[in-house]
Amino acid sequence: MRQAVPVTQLRPGPHDVSRILGDLTASSGTDREFLAHAELHLPRLHELFVRLYGERSDGLERLASLVDLAHRSWAERPADLRALDRARDGEPDWFESESMLGGVCYVDRFAGGLSGIRDQIPYFRELGLTYLHLMPLFESPEGNSDGGYAVSSYRRVNPALGTMEELAALAADLRRAGISLVVDFIFNHTSNEHEWAQKAVAGEPGYEDFYLIFPDREMPDAYEQTTREIFPDDHSGSFVQLDDGRWIWATFYHFQWDLNYANPAVFEAMAGEMLFLANQGVEILRMDAVAFIWKRLGTTCESLPEAHLLLQAFNAVLRMAAPGLLFKSEAIVHPDEVVSYISPDECQISYNPLQMALTWEALATRDGRLLQQALERRHALPEGTAWVNYVRSHDDIGWTFADEDAAELGIDGYPHRRFLNDFYVGRADGTFARGVPFQENPRTGDARVTGTTASLAGIEAGDAGGEDRVILAHALALSTGGIPLLYLGDEVAQLNDYGYRDRPDEAGDSRWVHRPFRPVQGYADRMDAGTPAGRIFARLTRLIDVRRATPEFAGNELIAFDAHHDSVVGFLRPGAAGSSVLVLANVGDHAVHIAPLTLSGLVPDAVDLVEGVKVSLRPGRTLPAHGVAWLRVALR
Ligand code: GLC
Repeated sequence: MRQAVPVTQLRPGPHDVSRILGDLTASSGTDREFLAHAELHLPRLHELFVRLYGERSDGLERLASLVDLAHRSWAERPADLRALDRARDGEPDWFESESMLGGVCYVDRFAGGLSGIRDQIPYFRELGLTYLHLMPLFESPEGNSDGGYAVSSYRRVNPALGTMEELAALAADLRRAGISLVVDFIFNHTSNEHEWAQKAVAGEPGYEDFYLIFPDREMPDAYEQTTREIFPDDHSGSFVQLDDGRWIWATFYHFQWDLNYANPAVFEAMAGEMLFLANQGVEILRMDAVAFIWKRLGTTCESLPEAHLLLQAFNAVLRMAAPGLLFKSEAIVHPDEVVSYISPDECQISYNPLQMALTWEALATRDGRLLQQALERRHALPEGTAWVNYVRSHDDIGWTFADEDAAELGIDGYPHRRFLNDFYVGRADGTFARGVPFQENPRTGDARVTGTTASLAGIEAGDAGGEDRVILAHALALSTGGIPLLYLGDEVAQLNDYGYRDRPDEAGDSRWVHRPFRPVQGYADRMDAGTPAGRIFARLTRLIDVRRATPEFAGNELIAFDAHHDSVVGFLRPGAAGSSVLVLANVGDHAVHIAPLTLSGLVPDAVDLVEGVKVSLRPGRTLPAHGVAWLRVALR
C-alpha cells in the first residue's frame, strides 16, 4: 500500500499541504471520504507540484485550486461510480485476472454510433469481453482529424456518433454486462479548433501560454536540432506556421497542437477534463502519446523525467476524486522507456509494443530468438501493474526492439528493420504479407507498416500458413500475461480495406487500410467452418474460453523455457496450486520435435488445454509448422 509522505518533509508555503488539509478538515462541507483520499494522496501531489512548478510563483496556488476542483468532482461523482471505486479498492488486482479480455473498435465503423455499440453488447458478451476501448469519439475537426485524435472538446461527443449522455448511459450498460469502458485521454495536444487553441492564438489573457508559440524560427530551429519527425508525410520538423507567421508546436498532424505543460494552468484545465470523463463512467483512460508531454531544449523532447511527474500528478488527482480508474500508457518507444511509465502510481497498465512487434518479427524471420529474449528479460513488471498484449492496433507497427538486444544475437538493427518493412509491405521475396508502408522517410530510411492481422499474416495472399499464424499471434497475446486486446474484426479474419485510397480524408494516411468497416460477411460466416472467418473464429474463441478457465494465466509471472529450437518460443506460466502452463509456439514453416530430454524436468503426465486431452511428454512433443501448445504441467 502507498504510504502518505509526512508533511514535515515538504516545503512550507502559503498553500502547503498541512494548510490545505487543515482547511478541508475544518470545513463542515468536506466529504469525509474525500478527506481520507486527500490525506493519502495530497502530500504526493504537493511534492510533484513542487518539482514541476516550484519555480513559478503561481505553482502552489494552482495546487489549492486543483484540490478544490477534485473535491467538487468527487461531490458530483455518481453513487454507482463511488461504489465501483470501493469495489476496486477491495480487489486491486481485478485487471490481472485470467478472465480479462479487451476489444477495440471505431464507433462509427463498427456500429454506426453509440446506440449501435449498445446493440453489440450481446456479441461482446458472447466473445467474453471485459474491456471495450472505443476509439476517439469526441468532437473534432471535419475531414481529417487523425481518426479523432485531434480533440476540439473533451465534453462533447462527435454529434455523428451520439451525445455525452448516451456515452454515460452506455458506460453503465457495459458495466452491468461486466465490461469496463476505455476511452482515449488525448492530453498531449488538442485540435486547432479547440476553444483553448483559438484563445491562445488570439492572445486572450490566461491562454497565451497554453501552447508553444514562437514569433520566428529561432526557437523552432533550435528545438528541431534534436527532435524526431513523427508524421513527415504531413510536415517536416515539430512545428507548423500559423496564418500570422508565428510558429506553433505540432508533433503529429499540423492541426494537432501540443499543450504547454510547463504552465500549471494547463495541468489544471486538463485535470478538469479528465475528472469530467471519469464521472461519465469511463473506467480506463488510455493516456495518448505520453512520451511527448514535456519539452526541453537540447533533448529529444521525448520521455523526459517531467513526463513521469506529470502522469504521477494526474494519477494523484484521480486517486482523490475517482480512485477506481486506471491509466493505460501509450508509449511506443524504446522498451526501456516503455516500462518507465508503468507503476501503480503512474500508469497501471500499458500497451506491450515490444511483444507485438517481435511476434511479427518472429513470423517473418521464422526465428523466435528475439521474442524469446524479450520475454525472458523485458516481460517482468512491478506488482500491481499489467501489460496490454495485442497483435495489432489501429496504428502502424514500428520495430521498437532494442538494438543492443538484437546485437547480442548477431542481428544488426538498422538492416533488420529495413528487411522487416520490406517483408511486411510485400517487397521481399517469398513474403506472405500484404501490408502497406506508413510514413516512409527517405531522409532517415525510417518507415512503419500497416495492415490487418489477416492480411499481414498471409490470409490475403492465400498463403497456406496464414490462418495458423493468426492463431499463433493471438495465442501469444492471450498467454504471456496481462490483458489481451483484440482488434474487433480480426476474430473473423478481416482483410485490408484498400478503399481508403479513394476517400480523400484518408488517402494520405495508410493506417486506414487496417481500420475497415464492420465485416458484415465475416460475422455472418463466423459459425461456418468452410470459411476463413469461421475457422479463425472457432479457433480463437476456443483459446479465449480456455484462457478464462486457466488460473495460471492470471498475473504476469513468466519463466522462459528453452525448447532448444530457434523457431520455438517457450515459457511457463506458474499457477498458485503448483501446476504451470507450458506454452510452446513454433514460428517456423516446418514441424519441430521437442526432445524428451528437453521436457524431462516436467512430470510426463500433462494436459493439452486447447485439445482438452491428457498427453504424455515421455516421447517429447511435436509442434506442427506455426503450431502452438498450451500444456498444463507439473515441475518434477
Ligand atoms: C497516438 C495514437 C495515434 C495518433 C497519435 C496522435 O499515437 O494512437 O493514432 O495519431 O497518438 O494523437
